[in-house]
Amino acid sequence: MKIARFSQLGFILAAAGSAVGLGNIWKFPYIAGEYGGGAFVLVYLVTVLVIGFSVMIAEMLIGYKGRLDGVGSFEKLSPAGKSGWKYAGFMGFTGLLILTFYSVVIGWIFHYVVVALSTLPSSVSEAEQSFHQLLSAGIGTQLFYHTLAFMAITSIVVRGIKGGIEKINMKLMPILILIVTGMFFYALSLDAFSKAWEFMFVPEWSKIDSEAIVVAVGHAFFTLSLGMGAILTYSASLPRETNLTRVSLIVIALDTGIALLAGLLLFTFLFEYGAGPAQGPGLVFISLPAVFYEMGILGTVLALLFFIALAFAGLTSAVSLLEPMVQYLIDRSNFTRFKATLSAGLFFYIVGIVSILANSSEFSQQLTFGSRNFFDWMDFITASVLLPVGGLAMAIFVGYVMPKTQVQAALKGSMNDRGFALWYAAIRYIAPAALLIVMLNLLGME
Ligand code: TRP
Repeated sequence: MKIARFSQLGFILAAAGSAVGLGNIWKFPYIAGEYGGGAFVLVYLVTVLVIGFSVMIAEMLIGYKGRLDGVGSFEKLSPAGKSGWKYAGFMGFTGLLILTFYSVVIGWIFHYVVVALSTLPSSVSEAEQSFHQLLSAGIGTQLFYHTLAFMAITSIVVRGIKGGIEKINMKLMPILILIVTGMFFYALSLDAFSKAWEFMFVPEWSKIDSEAIVVAVGHAFFTLSLGMGAILTYSASLPRETNLTRVSLIVIALDTGIALLAGLLLFTFLFEYGAGPAQGPGLVFISLPAVFYEMGILGTVLALLFFIALAFAGLTSAVSLLEPMVQYLIDRSNFTRFKATLSAGLFFYIVGIVSILANSSEFSQQLTFGSRNFFDWMDFITASVLLPVGGLAMAIFVGYVMPKTQVQAALKGSMNDRGFALWYAAIRYIAPAALLIVMLNLLGME
């Protein structure tokens, strides 16, 4: 039973807070850099609009109608004889797996807030060295900040939807939006802006291959927080009369807007100071700090603001990764919220330590399996496999398992008949086909 519900604005900010995360500011710019800029960005935008948008409405609908945790909502909406679909609700576990590296990265960000406050590295090579130092030999430092991240995340979730999640998003999201747009306007005044614009928006099709498409689709799910029940769980606390189309469009606009602004401002700074675009996961931790150093005192301020914004983005997402499992434990196992938060939290905290060790020079060998170490495996399995599988399950459930009349009735206040016909076709045919192609490709890739 839900007592406390989101306000409309609270839900929008919480869902946007979930969507806007490390995926937007840390991951999107570097994969765009890796896969050649414009063409990748275009594939990503189309995917977000066609597949992301339709799956988001489907995921919202399951929570909005089910009003329970993932498992409960699937079970409640399953037609007689198909209650096995409740197992799809266990996708909430994916959130804990994501947190095993997400929390570690939030920890790096905390560390860089401190770096910005003390001394920025004075060159790219120095920055590279200190980042690698942190990963390979800084187990203690990482553990310290991972612990801080764990405490921050759990102390929000333990206060519940209204008093914890809504409240923190109402505070942090406006600040985050302000910082990113402010920095964007500064970037706009620099010469390299046009180069960054070109890099992000002029497609070079030769750089697109099937791997880039798989990554783009996987990232579209990741960045919109789809496929694991985060949006579903939040939607269970939506006010009764909500226009799901409108709400999801706002969330998608905010998420995409921030990703594009972050990409543009990052590449402007990098190009302005002659750093290259493709730096991999170290982009914001290596190239950027060195660039901030070059900017002098202004750079210090920018660095501080940037890493604070990144920390906020990470935290508001992390709480949405934890909440589905917590809600499940409360609804299904009769845990108190405290006990549920602590047990789900301890799981990602402890496994997260393995992620830290996997990057260290001391343990990397034991923790590397095939082409990836444990940290990278968690990233790959969740973003490229589990989220698309979860998205597929939701699309099939809403498109084929739930009776059409029920789905249409649920969306009556959200779209007209023509809109419904379009969306229903997208959820029945386009989204599953795209997701299947991605998965088949994945099999070929590995
Ligand atoms: N969307 C977040 C990001 O871009 C990550 C995230 C939060 C997420 N909740 C999720 C990803 C649920 C998938 C599912 O960083």
